[in-house]
Amino acid sequence: MIIAIDGPAAAGKGTLARAIADKFSFAYLDTGSLYRAVAHAVLLAGAEPTDEAVAIKAAQNLDVAQIDPVAIRTPDVAAAASVVAAMVPVRAAILQFQRKFAQTPPNNAKGAVLDGRDIGTVVCPEADAKLFVSARAEIRAHRRWLELKGSGSELSEAQVLADVSERDRRDQERAHSPLKPAQDAYLLDTSDLSIETAFEQALTFIEGSKG
Ligand code: CDP
Repeated sequence: MIIAIDGPAAAGKGTLARAIADKFSFAYLDTGSLYRAVAHAVLLAGAEPTDEAVAIKAAQNLDVAQIDPVAIRTPDVAAAASVVAAMVPVRAAILQFQRKFAQTPPNNAKGAVLDGRDIGTVVCPEADAKLFVSARAEIRAHRRWLELKGSGSELSEAQVLADVSERDRRDQERAHSPLKPAQDAYLLDTSDLSIETAFEQALTFIEGSKG
């Protein structure tokens, strides 16, 4: 079984995807971490995120086992990720890895949960259950601000809102694999929901999709 979870920045996709994967003992892939890792490699090389040649090479040489989970979570890396993610060859370089993960999940898991922007539309259009998780921009920014503050960031909430909104705009407006709900996605707005309630609603939808 493949479960696709898409949505804008800081919508709570990761928390939900992890909880769903745990519940069913499925494998979980945070596809945003792949774009973040490419962006991180570009920045480490001293290049601009807009440098296509460097970004493409980083995507082609990406070693998933070497991704630094802490270093890729910074706002600079997030912003750069949405720049490299608009490059068609960068997306192409990591497409097969994502599809293979979905179709033959590691550790013989009976299913996979992938979260990102284009899982239900491009990576796994055949997914058994598709969720599009969203929340109002101010709420998403507040959640991300709390998260960043917890890891020592001094960014203001207004700055985080500006960053998140700019990234959403780039992700929605790009020509290739833009952020948008699949036609058959279940729309889950978590603005006024607790994590538990969002999880229950997602679960009810998934149980109904299992056939
Ligand atoms: O955690 P957050 O929701 O802030 O973002 P993320 O899922 O880590 O994704 C970082 C960036 O990678 C996004 O802003 C997108 O530009 C890009 N991305 C993408 O283009 N396609 C995906 N399937 C996943 C992420």
